[in-house]
Amino acid sequence: MAEHTGSGEALPFSEVYYPSREAYLEYYRKSVEDIESFWSERARELEWYKTWDVVLDRSKAPFYRWFVGGETNINLNALDRWVGTSVFDKVAYYWEGEPGDTRVVTYRDLYREVNRLAWALKEIVGVKEGDTVTIYLPMIPELPATMLAVTRIGAIHSVVFSGFSPQALADRIVDAKARVLITADGFYRRGRVIKLKEQADQAVVLAAEQGVKVERVIVVKRAGIEVPWSEGRDVWYHDLIKEAPERAYVKPVPRKSDDVLFILYTSGTTGKPKGIMHSVGGYPVYVYNVFKWNWDPRPGDIYWCAADIGWITGHTYIVYGPLMHGVSQVMYEGAPDYPDPGRIWSMIEKYGVTTFYTSPTLLRLLRKYGDQWVEKHDLSSLRILGTVGEPINPEVWKWYYEKVGGKRAPIVDTWWQTETGAAMISPAPGISLVPLKPGSATYPLPGIVADVLRPDGTPARPGEKGLLVIKEPWPGMLMGIWGDPERYIKTYWARFSRPEEGVWIYYPADYAVKDEDGYFWLLGRADEVLNVAGHRLGTIELEDAILTHPAVSEAAVVGAPDPVKGQVPVAVVVLREGYEPSDELERELKETVRKLIGPIAVPAKVLFVKKLPKTRSGKIMRRILIALLEGKPIGDTSTLEDPAAVEEVSRAVEEFKRLMKSS
Ligand code: WT7
Repeated sequence: MAEHTGSGEALPFSEVYYPSREAYLEYYRKSVEDIESFWSERARELEWYKTWDVVLDRSKAPFYRWFVGGETNINLNALDRWVGTSVFDKVAYYWEGEPGDTRVVTYRDLYREVNRLAWALKEIVGVKEGDTVTIYLPMIPELPATMLAVTRIGAIHSVVFSGFSPQALADRIVDAKARVLITADGFYRRGRVIKLKEQADQAVVLAAEQGVKVERVIVVKRAGIEVPWSEGRDVWYHDLIKEAPERAYVKPVPRKSDDVLFILYTSGTTGKPKGIMHSVGGYPVYVYNVFKWNWDPRPGDIYWCAADIGWITGHTYIVYGPLMHGVSQVMYEGAPDYPDPGRIWSMIEKYGVTTFYTSPTLLRLLRKYGDQWVEKHDLSSLRILGTVGEPINPEVWKWYYEKVGGKRAPIVDTWWQTETGAAMISPAPGISLVPLKPGSATYPLPGIVADVLRPDGTPARPGEKGLLVIKEPWPGMLMGIWGDPERYIKTYWARFSRPEEGVWIYYPADYAVKDEDGYFWLLGRADEVLNVAGHRLGTIELEDAILTHPAVSEAAVVGAPDPVKGQVPVAVVVLREGYEPSDELERELKETVRKLIGPIAVPAKVLFVKKLPKTRSGKIMRRILIALLEGKPIGDTSTLEDPAAVEEVSRAVEEFKRLMKSS
């Protein structure tokens, strides 16, 4: 990935946003003078059953607890607060299916649906407060409705991206010990029907093998296809809803601020995904405020976040954030370039989208198709443009700014993670827009104390590449890792903290640079995690998958730079005695990854070698593989056991690059 840390110059904006760095920095400075009173003020904008006794309990750091003593339910803020207001009759979701079918869901519709489903989950299915419910749904309105119904009755949702394989779903069901699974018959992707219920059924079998029995499977009818059915266990969502009184009302269960609101799994540096836990009190406070700062929501807005709800971006920026602001949204089921590369632009025009939020990967893809697709459409409704998930190259930033936004809309580049709940470093047009620099996420948001350190923990100089850290807790922070408190400390707090001095420093594992003006430039992961098309993939997870194949003796997975996806996984594999490299074997290994994790994780290439570069103590030297793939010098090789291994990999990599160029 290109590294871009230039200082850039300020860009002109429309009448709507006059950049004022001073106004922003003044607001920021005040916010961090006393973060407790700052967040306490911010939290008062939300509805609570009971306000908190303590804003921030630091006594069990790094298990920080926010708004302790407070009680609320996210439904109060996302749905119930709109009852009897003009928002109640506003559209919540303009939904569009991939084939072009549409649905319009108002806040009133959503409220009714959520209440009826909550009633049915409680009274018929028997879901109890504190239970976990796994949700494996495509991008249909039933997905937000289900999340809200689950949290309404005080249960915890674990949404699993519908692109994950049955095995990946099973692992997440088992880890969360979920007894109820909510899924759909199927959905549309690139003109095909994905048979989701079949995959869900396979996952239920796999979970049972690991000792977790899913007792109920609730199935939304989306594709109208025939599905396998298990009498007594399976129930149609629509039948279940019909059991509830038409005017069912379920009081949102008061929950403690430091109860778990939801779990969302993300990849890390081991084979096992981490169940990131978000909180009942802190998460909504953070999300509500950051949403306002990022998008400056106004009554007539049509907002579209083109992510999938299966990731944190969708949880925060399609479900909870926008609903807490009474915003009208566009929600889309399918592939962004189907049936043609103009789909996104034509939908922006059709719905008059004012605020559009997507990933650099999608922008690179759409840009590659050529400007004619953009130019065909009137995009003058756009007021703010956002990006998330990966570093955005300055050229793509400029294209987005000029071609898509017509130089009227600022680019809000938001840096954050599943663990942080919402954006942490980004422009804040809702407060005061700072002058933008293409490729920089600008400044930390209010209340966020960020810095860049050298590996030894001393501050990096301006312009010097180092490691990003967050030096104070914030309300949107994860509460921990589900079932694994030690891993929480080890992963996020061990790198730079000094517990003996009471100093706790959050380590996101991202490289960054702070420039002379204090702007942050995010430069990608600093650990063994890949970022493929804005999705986080653990290299060890992929290696474990490949190693299940009987032909494989050793495997190392690393990221290769890719012009559209940012990175793609490449597997370097040593075969067992008696097996020979072949295209067939490469296909089988890719298929294994597809089966065990999902299509997003499939390696772009499998390189067969006789030997992996290793240290004398037998550790695979990934650094060398990465350097070769990135075409950079391989650096210090004094610990290398056998230089011949490097030559062999190097030849394989050159071959791969030739193939990539010609394709
Ligand atoms: C990782 C988190 C949070 C939503 C989507 C991804 C990378 C995220 C940016 C950005 C540069 C970014 C980081 C981070 N990342 N946003 N604006 N610029 N890099 O969530 O799967 O938890 O991944 O995505 O490397 O650590 P995630």
